[in-house]
Amino acid sequence: MTATDAQNQPWWKRGVIYHCYVRSFMDSNGDGVGDLPGLTSKLDTLRDDTPSSLGIEGLWLSPVYPSPNHDFGYDISDYRSIDPAYGTMDDFDRLVACARARGIHLIMDLVVNHSSTEHPWFRQAHTSRENIFHDYYLWSDGTNGKPPNNWGSSFGGSAWEWNEQTHEFYLHSFLKEQADLNWRNPRLREEIHDIMRFWMDRGVDGFRLDVANYYVKDAQLRDNSHKFVIAQPMPGNPSTTLFMPMSREVCDHTVDQPETHDALREMRCVIDEKPGRMMVGEITQRTQGQVLSYYGDGGSELNLVFNFFFFVRRFRAKDFRDIIEQTLDLLPEGAWPAWVLSNHDVVRAASRYRLSPAMAKSMMGLLLTLKGTPFLYYGEELGLANTSLPRRLLQDPVGKRYWPLPVGRDGERAPMPWDATAGAGFTTGIPWLPVSASSVTYSVESADPTSVLSFTRRLSWFRSHHPALTTGDMATIDGPSDTCLCFTRTSPAEHMTITINLSDQTAQIPRGSFTSDQTPLFSTEEHPSIDSLAPWEVRIATTPA
Ligand code: GLC
Repeated sequence: MTATDAQNQPWWKRGVIYHCYVRSFMDSNGDGVGDLPGLTSKLDTLRDDTPSSLGIEGLWLSPVYPSPNHDFGYDISDYRSIDPAYGTMDDFDRLVACARARGIHLIMDLVVNHSSTEHPWFRQAHTSRENIFHDYYLWSDGTNGKPPNNWGSSFGGSAWEWNEQTHEFYLHSFLKEQADLNWRNPRLREEIHDIMRFWMDRGVDGFRLDVANYYVKDAQLRDNSHKFVIAQPMPGNPSTTLFMPMSREVCDHTVDQPETHDALREMRCVIDEKPGRMMVGEITQRTQGQVLSYYGDGGSELNLVFNFFFFVRRFRAKDFRDIIEQTLDLLPEGAWPAWVLSNHDVVRAASRYRLSPAMAKSMMGLLLTLKGTPFLYYGEELGLANTSLPRRLLQDPVGKRYWPLPVGRDGERAPMPWDATAGAGFTTGIPWLPVSASSVTYSVESADPTSVLSFTRRLSWFRSHHPALTTGDMATIDGPSDTCLCFTRTSPAEHMTITINLSDQTAQIPRGSFTSDQTPLFSTEEHPSIDSLAPWEVRIATTPA
């Protein structure tokens, strides 16, 4: 594959996608909350077509629609406008235009398993059983004043809430302020399709589908056979607890119902109405096979499905190799992986794995060289860790509810550290979440040539110029030692070997081994040795075909 062939691949296959938690990225008006004009003012750092930006291809915005913010935007009260805290529709249009001028594609978060109970649909629906919007939601009479079954909310407690006006329970898979929509109602489905068209017409290139395997629920409301587990310790780092949706038990009647696949196929038809559009789905952790089934038969459902398996494995070459091999083995024909190390729901990789800057570079090396689309969570390019918060500053309802269990998500949502000033260059006001103490060390402004940020930019630039790395094939191979993760990336024009030493020890490269006759093209080291890999070294080498 030539560089031009790689360019002909869809943008969402070839490039890095940046996950921007808008509320924490850049505040333009000093109210302590990140906003769209703030984000627009920082687009050059994301892509300016030189090696001094991150060189992203896509930008996923956390939800920016009006919301009462019980779950920070994941409870939407109007799917067709912008929350004033983030700006206006004009600000949004300006963002789209400025992003497009730089070659950045925009992805909106589509949260349609549920709406806010403040949404006009629900405000009508709950007033009477006869209301035309009543059937947009899921209701049950319950039995003797009790919920109809054992379904639990992912945020704790029963998933059913009593509605006085109609003397029924309504379903909420998350907070009681997030009422689940009835995906069996064809009119509701049409509404969702129209919302998608509305944003595509405004220039949006894709959608990230929130909890896309939750849409349809069992029609008979049968009990789930397993109980919910709220949190589990991270393997290898028991002080870090994984937030539930990633690690919960099987909920056989609330998620992964066959009809959800029909709904996704319909949405895919809407996406395909406009060329170059895509959707990526959050399929909360199941088995690899179940997750991958969401690409659909013949690629008829999601264009990309997040691979979250790095959230639950140890920082070890063997664990990483297992994840990669399982993914590549089970990936349906023609499907393209999507890799994630951190997001707004889990402890950042830097904290989960207790990464030093050198280790953060090796993780970045992995993310940007795997076959598949890398999703980069804002701040990850700095090697940013979680911020710890005292109880009184907690904002996330999950954190408040389960305190002192460390399951809250505020720690990974702290403001982007742009510089070392009091507001971290994020705000001139009081930030909605405190700026992390480590922000000073990890700020964008303080990044020197040895920083994680400089490494990320350099590698992203390198990646974008090598079709083997963007769109080539991949196979794992044995590395020079057990601590090394090693794989090849191949395109018709290039054959590359990536070796990552996931250890603080030097790894010797035996003479005559596969790596000894390769030319290092890229490395974390300024002068890579041909006989060994330095601790945590990421090396990309080319082998003559
Ligand atoms: C997804 C989101 C999470 C949200 C939940 C409910 O898991 O990523 O932030 O709380 O859905 O919408």
